[in-house]
Amino acid sequence: MALAENTSVASSEQVENSESETDTPIDGLPLVSKADLSEANGQDNNPAYVAVFGYVYDVTDIVEWENDEHIGAQAGADASSFFH
Ligand code: HEM
Repeated sequence: MALAENTSVASSEQVENSESETDTPIDGLPLVSKADLSEANGQDNNPAYVAVFGYVYDVTDIVEWENDEHIGAQAGADASSFFH
């Protein structure tokens, strides 16, 4: 999955490099809106997603992401800043 439109450094670069300005799929992956990402926080039986540099990872079943957090990173959010 890829995070939709200008939501992180990586997705902004991807948009600049592409022909369209809006919601261009990255590598043909399904797009995830910021609203859908923040809903996917692992609470209330929602899935747990985390975005890193424009890519969205499903960490619902990753044991290291139990309780919807992992070494200070939260599910339902963009964790790119941890990698700067
Ligand atoms: C993108 C989704 C992510 C997945 C699926 C994931 C998964 C994992 C897994 C499976 C391990 C254990 C590796 C091992 O046993 O050798 C691990 C370790 C670690 N992860 Fe992640 N991780 C993710 C994102 C992050 C993020 C955003 C951070 C920043 C806070 C982070 C920080 C770490 C650290 C510091 C370790 C080493 C922990 C230790 O050695 O005790 N990870 N991760």
